[in-house]
Amino acid sequence: MQHFLGLTEAGAPALKRILALAKVRRDARKGLPTGAPDSDKPLEGHTLAMVFEKSSTRTRVSFEQAMHQLGGTAIMLSSSDIQMGRGETVADTARTLSRYVDAIMLRTSAHGKLLELAQHATVPVINGLTDQTHPCQVMADIMTYEDHRGHVAGSTWAWLGDGNNMAQTLIEASGLFGFHINLGVPEGYAPDACIMAKAKMLGSTIRVLKSANEAVAGAHAVATDAWLSMHQQDNADKLLAMQAFQVTPTLIAQADPRAVFLHCLPAHRGEEVTDAVIDGPHSIVWDEAENRLHVQKAILLWCLGKLEI
Ligand code: CP
Ligand code: NVA
Repeated sequence: MQHFLGLTEAGAPALKRILALAKVRRDARKGLPTGAPDSDKPLEGHTLAMVFEKSSTRTRVSFEQAMHQLGGTAIMLSSSDIQMGRGETVADTARTLSRYVDAIMLRTSAHGKLLELAQHATVPVINGLTDQTHPCQVMADIMTYEDHRGHVAGSTWAWLGDGNNMAQTLIEASGLFGFHINLGVPEGYAPDACIMAKAKMLGSTIRVLKSANEAVAGAHAVATDAWLSMHQQDNADKLLAMQAFQVTPTLIAQADPRAVFLHCLPAHRGEEVTDAVIDGPHSIVWDEAENRLHVQKAILLWCLGKLEI
């Protein structure tokens, strides 16, 4: 049994095997309707509990469909439905759910809550997003980049806007997969210094730049995310500081001519990105959203010791 709490904890060899399996399984079911199970049904009889303390479209539907295609079942638990939402401890929730299901996915704010759940669960726990990281999403991002541009190693990515959970996970990934990141972020919104230092120690170049133009120059991938993440208060000063980092056609024209545009979604069209970019020729955001499903199937198999299937 293995938890999937973060990219660093899983380690580069496992992450690469997970991506390889995701691609093989995606190819193997080409042409099947979305609700048809994979022919081998490797998780037949298995159940995933999905605990959401924050909203979700992609994570919720892709995990539920992932379990269905693998032959198993998913149970959706929003925090308002379960006793954890009115004070039952994380530890007791972990102990209880572990008696009913084979794996637990949690989306929450405090990263410590995820770690506490994993500490007390006797089944694998998967990080479905915390304020610190979003590893399932970044695995889909790497997979999608490689689908369109080949090996990610050695490439340069530009991150524009907020140094949030997505930026931090991408930085972790850069160290593990061997690529480089130019961060175009306003003063005061840089990602965690420790996460940047670890990626640099692994050999990736992380540059924090105050100019969006400098950040995208020659980049093979340009990525951004909401300026205000879920449960963040409206903040006029932050929104003002972010304006100079909006991804526009003029900005993306300064990247590599074949640059891809990524966004984990949901997008706030007209804020961090314009319609012309997200709906334009560089954008691969819908492939990126689809790959959540394929990569999470491989993550589930890895967690449950069935990666070779
Ligand atoms: N990208 C992502 O995690 O989307 P949801 O919030 O819709 O799950
Ligand atoms: N940074 C965003 C990501 C949403 C998938 C948030 O945490 O709300």
